[in-house]
Amino acid sequence: MTQVLPASDAAIEEAAQVLRRGGLVAFPTETVYGLGSVATNDRAVARIFQAKQRPAHNPLIVHVADRAAATPLAIWTEAGEALAAAFWPGPLTLVLAREPSAPISPLVTVGLATIALRAPSAPTAQKLLQATLLPLAAPSANPSGQVSPTTAAHVVAGLGDVVDLVIDGGPCSVGVESTVVDVSGEQVRLLRPGGVPREAIEAIVGPLLDSVADGPIQSPGQLESHYAPRAAVRLEALQPAPGEAFLGFGYMIGKGAVAARNLSPTGDLDEAARNLFAMLRQLDDAGVATIAVAPIPQQGLGEAINDRLRRAAAGR
Ligand code: TXA
Ligand code: MG
Repeated sequence: MTQVLPASDAAIEEAAQVLRRGGLVAFPTETVYGLGSVATNDRAVARIFQAKQRPAHNPLIVHVADRAAATPLAIWTEAGEALAAAFWPGPLTLVLAREPSAPISPLVTVGLATIALRAPSAPTAQKLLQATLLPLAAPSANPSGQVSPTTAAHVVAGLGDVVDLVIDGGPCSVGVESTVVDVSGEQVRLLRPGGVPREAIEAIVGPLLDSVADGPIQSPGQLESHYAPRAAVRLEALQPAPGEAFLGFGYMIGKGAVAARNLSPTGDLDEAARNLFAMLRQLDDAGVATIAVAPIPQQGLGEAINDRLRRAAAGR
């Protein structure tokens, strides 16, 4: 069995040792649990791809403690500086041109000229980065294509024995993955909606280009089927059909559903994001053929929630 330790200082010190020896440690960030290895170690990074069965063309995010730790890794731009100043540490990933001399395993960036960087704010992630003093490559700690984990139990359920150590820091406070923006070029491009809402980013750098609408796919991960429960997912449902499970939002008519959850009875999108992945798993565990999901407003974290739900519905 994988070792699971509560996030004490001793556990973080042990995790840092496991990482320095080339091991895999799952740890909580404010978005989702990450599956971390030292980003400078080829063999350790290769183990991440193997553990997740992740397609070899999908690059990893490199986690750093702060902006200063990211200096040797990328060629920084004005937009990158402005967004790091506004949102780091926090749920924002910046894609920048990779610094050619950066000591990062080429497997992390899968041969791209760019690198994705993020400074997480969750205390456990911060302490681990400070204890390790090395950049950590960490995708979400789930088998490729499945729902991301927001608790230590989700990590164990999905990855079981292939992780050397799981640090349990309780449920994630944001609940959806980081927003990924490409700040390497002239204009800032949104590659993945996430924990920092589009509106907050646009308040700093102006209107964002959209990756799919305005150009070629630039984030290889966009290609994968993602966030897919076993059950089919039916979107924009006002109420469940017979035999369906129901995931509501705000006022809901869940009557007749085999199982029902409410993402946020008060219609709070931040609460809905926090509940999204755990509730999808709970409804999936009811063994239904279809999970019907209520309409979710598209503002704030609603854009990230709708993105994940669309991918869940498109899965397989
Ligand atoms: O919140 C998060 O971002 C979590 C936590 C653990 O930090 N991590 C996460 O990683 O969601 P992952 O691997 O599940 O998603 C990373 C996304 C993928 O869509 C990948 O294609 C994209 O970031 N990405 C990574 N490097 C990139 C690059 N150089 N250029 C464009 N996209 C990149
Ligand atoms: Mg993922």
